[in-house]
Amino acid sequence: MAKNFEAEILSNEEVAEKIFRLTLAAPELAEISRAGQFVQVKISDEFTLRRPLGIASTAGGRVKIFYRLVGRGTENLSKKKSGERLNILGALGNGFSPCNRKILLVGGGMGLAPLLCAAENYSADVLIGGRTSDEVIFWQEEFRPHVEKIFITTDDGSYAKKGFAIDLLPEVLSAENYSAIFTCGPEIMMRGIAKLAKEKNLPCEVSFEKRMACGLGACLSCSIDTARGRKKVCKDGPIFDAKEVFDYESDNPEN
Ligand code: FES
Repeated sequence: MAKNFEAEILSNEEVAEKIFRLTLAAPELAEISRAGQFVQVKISDEFTLRRPLGIASTAGGRVKIFYRLVGRGTENLSKKKSGERLNILGALGNGFSPCNRKILLVGGGMGLAPLLCAAENYSADVLIGGRTSDEVIFWQEEFRPHVEKIFITTDDGSYAKKGFAIDLLPEVLSAENYSAIFTCGPEIMMRGIAKLAKEKNLPCEVSFEKRMACGLGACLSCSIDTARGRKKVCKDGPIFDAKEVFDYESDNPEN
């Protein structure tokens, strides 16, 4: 059940160019949150729409969130100082399925945030994809305490292996027997990951990101077509079984 919280900001720091890590004192929210869920953040009275942001950590009664500076709302958020309070609605949506055996987390860009929360709660390795070294090195540090192995690709080859996460995935899968893949990031990346998971008979869960208004299932702004009909990302997701949301028989990227 989602609730409203007035959470104190403990820190709000830029960890890479235009990427911020916000840490909130929110023990009750941390207690009720599951990996894969998100919160709606009220930035100020000036912005009527709340911002949906994935929960990246709930350890020690603190809720950690990552966001990228993309406009006036997030710019305003980046100026908030420790000691100030933020109104947070959460935890929203569904989480990843429980799993007792080791899983592989595959994420690109800001999609790594919900996977970090999964890393805290599951036995896992992680495959991190980013455009440049600046985009992946801080994620490597965030994941290091929680996973056994870290694999990294950068589009420009400025750090670790040059290429995309999907390029390295076959090699990673051939070296270890994972029980499932959880993925979040650009849709084209998730589609490729899910297709390969299907070929390997591996369960795959994807975390969808969509523009959201209410975040509560009331406005339909986040609806997508799935194998089980029209679904709302905010309420029926953001975590979906890959088989529900991707049509592997078609190459149509709109499916
Ligand atoms: Fe309103 Fe999903 S954001 S229904």
